Amino acid sequence: MILIKLGGSVITDKTQYRTFNKDVVRRLCGEIKDSGASAIIVHGGGSFGHVLAKEYSLQNGFADPRQIPAVARTQYDMRELDQMVIGELLDADIPAVSVPPGSCFMMDGGKLILDDPEVLFSASRLGIMPVLFGDVVFDRSKGFGICSGDQIMEVLCGLYNPQKVVFVSDVDGLFDKDPKTNPDSKLLTEVTSELLAEVSSDIGVDDVTGGVRAKMEAMLRITSPERDCILVNGSVPGRLRSLLKGERVISTTAKGGL
Ligand code: IPE
Repeated sequence: MILIKLGGSVITDKTQYRTFNKDVVRRLCGEIKDSGASAIIVHGGGSFGHVLAKEYSLQNGFADPRQIPAVARTQYDMRELDQMVIGELLDADIPAVSVPPGSCFMMDGGKLILDDPEVLFSASRLGIMPVLFGDVVFDRSKGFGICSGDQIMEVLCGLYNPQKVVFVSDVDGLFDKDPKTNPDSKLLTEVTSELLAEVSSDIGVDDVTGGVRAKMEAMLRITSPERDCILVNGSVPGRLRSLLKGERVISTTAKGGL
């Protein structure tokens, strides 16, 4: 089984509130289907999640009643995005159902709690793909918080023990410097925690769940000697398909744990 996260940067236009990249998602769902891989999908929020979450500091939990409408609206926006992703999976002939974290799970101090995986396992046993996503989740100590798709990936790894974990983004992988502002930046094909410590800290932190560095840390936490954890560019047609089929592609592989 392969666990795949479709990042918000590839499935939405992160600069425009609630803008879905329908053509890209359609193509990626086709690539997953073509590869023949048995997969579970998690997706990010992009401009359906981060814009309001940032404006109302939803990641910090309850501080002010004025946040409450934004909590409800962000859950609504995430469900709309999720339904569009699921629509593309169904069109690609992948039977998929939504498992919204904000309705199924809790957090405590920002840590996701998934006591009962029965819904997930029941779907998987029937050959139905459960689809989860970054969401506003109620929190026992903070009232609510933002649970990122990357956190969900970590929990699902513990439950399913996938042989491969893939993070699909809009970048070729991790660079030693921000490639958008440094033309001499180099792609790191492999990343260990030692290497990550040397990488410039200002890369991609413009979202409420921590950007590229938090993603690499989450990736390092879920690596194991038997399991590769790979960051790949989903904006390039065919790259995800090739990776899922076991071919070598431009990407960054996290190795050795955190
Ligand atoms: C964010 O999830 C969810 C919300 C802000 C509601 P992610 O952190 O996984 O989303 P992306 O992939 O970075 O957009």
